[in-house]
Amino acid sequence: MNTIKLVLAGLSGALILVIHTGASAQVRTQDLGKREFERSCASCHGLDGKGSGTVTPWLKKSPPDLSALSKNNGGIFPADRVYKSIAGEDIAAHGSREMPVWGQVYRMSAAEYYMEQPYNDEAIVRARILSLLEYLNRMQQTR
Ligand code: HEC
Repeated sequence: MNTIKLVLAGLSGALILVIHTGASAQVRTQDLGKREFERSCASCHGLDGKGSGTVTPWLKKSPPDLSALSKNNGGIFPADRVYKSIAGEDIAAHGSREMPVWGQVYRMSAAEYYMEQPYNDEAIVRARILSLLEYLNRMQQTR
């Protein structure tokens, strides 16, 4: 009797392990920063980040070349400035701007998603912006 219970417990453990590794394999193949860039940023900045998106002709200001951020900053990726500019924390310094305030956009979509459930909006917004930063960093021209 006890052996059967033990075997069953072992089997369900194995099953959980299979499901678990299956899920983490899926997570590894997702490129969150790239996906978000293509969905939310490419219309203005272009798929390659160089500033030739489909709506660019209708903007008052041309979007900057995001693949030249490091090149224009002495070879160092200006992570802090880029973070603030995506989050919208630099508005006071720049006055009006055409780019949406992504910090607010992500905060609102988290509120819609979690509704009454407890969640950490700061952590969610930061994770989404950091995944974009990681993708932008990969997009930098090497020379
Ligand atoms: C509606 C068009 C539009 C969209 C969509 C857009 N941007 Fe922008 N972006 C701009 C414009 C225009 C500027 C120049 C500053 C300004 O006037 O807003 C800019 C500036 C920036 C800068 C500042 C660069 C620097 O030199 O500091 C970064 C970084 C940036 N965008 C990243 C993004 C990311 C990441 C997304 C997607 C989540 C995005 N943008 C979506 C239009 C857009």
